[in-house]
Amino acid sequence: MIRFIEDKDLKKTIARDVLEALTEWFEVEDSREQYIRECVNWPFFAYYDEETAAGFLCLKRTGDETVELAVMGVLKEYHRKGVGRRLFAAAKDYACREGYSFIQVKTVRSGMYEDYDITNEFYRSLGFKELEVLETYWDEANPCQIYVMGLKTAVNTIATRHSYRGKFKDEPVPVEDLKIIASAGIDAPSGCNKQTTDIVIVNDTDVLSKIKAVLDPPVAQTAPAMIVVLTRRINAYRDRCFAIQDYSAAIENMLLAIVELGYQSCWYEGHITDEDRICDKIAQILNVPEEYDVVCILPVGKAVDDFHAPSKKPFAERVKFNSWS
Ligand SMILES: Cc1cc2nc3c(=O)[nH]c(=O)nc-3n(C[C@H](O)[C@H](O)[C@H](O)COP(=O)(O)O)c2cc1C
Repeated sequence: MIRFIEDKDLKKTIARDVLEALTEWFEVEDSREQYIRECVNWPFFAYYDEETAAGFLCLKRTGDETVELAVMGVLKEYHRKGVGRRLFAAAKDYACREGYSFIQVKTVRSGMYEDYDITNEFYRSLGFKELEVLETYWDEANPCQIYVMGLKTAVNTIATRHSYRGKFKDEPVPVEDLKIIASAGIDAPSGCNKQTTDIVIVNDTDVLSKIKAVLDPPVAQTAPAMIVVLTRRINAYRDRCFAIQDYSAAIENMLLAIVELGYQSCWYEGHITDEDRICDKIAQILNVPEEYDVVCILPVGKAVDDFHAPSKKPFAERVKFNSWS
């Protein structure tokens, strides 16, 4: 569970406990102490496993619209469990709510130190992009080039989302991440707030196999999880039904959340709703009540293959200012 910590002493204790346990990562005691001193004034997020603070992340304001991911640490036994990503998701959510449009992180250019290569890969998986070198420091004792990676908030995620139809890694998606994705879906706007979209998260291997078996042509066969989108076609007011708009907004929100968490997906609606009505077979497998229709599946998983961005018409062809001509 992520907690936003305000108590300065508690911030110090958590930062010290975690950073001291990461000695081989944090060999320079002076800079560790400096972080511990400074972080009491920064927005501070801690990951708790029951009563243990297993990791933390601090943001530092560096401009009217910019925050920096200043320091982050996760106890070794919690590595590779999605703790860093969850901390970052909370921090990013905070940055968006506070009106920051840009998050940066200073790191060392890939290829100089192996540890930083791993860290940079992690940043990239969060959506950070390598920017031009904005600052270069040459520390005489330990020469390195400090490199700035940046991440624009929602707008950047929108630009980097593409449909992914390749193979997925054989790695389960943590339930916490699936919940974040589904929450993004149900947070979407809906006509007259009728909330006509519901979701079934599928991460059980038997249920997944049953769904995969009815997908023809066989798409998403290696997906470790799926989001199944359901709609209730009820009128929002008078004879106006906004169910399609509602579920479309929910699906796009979920696609963006999926990409932001480092996974890939594709909006499979055409495949399952044409005349062979695969959607009805999926509804039967999932015991979906009669008043709901299954309209879409979104596989969720880490990509194995590269994907190419489809070409889109140029901006000027589709967007006009003030008048069509
Ligand atoms: C309503 C809708 C239905 C879709 N159904 C399918 C589908 O059944 N199979 C598929 O491979 N892609 C499907 N897609 C994905 C589109 O093909 C894809 O969004 C489009 O080619 C643009 O590519 P992009 O998502 O990478 O921008 C669907 C997208 C939408 C919005």
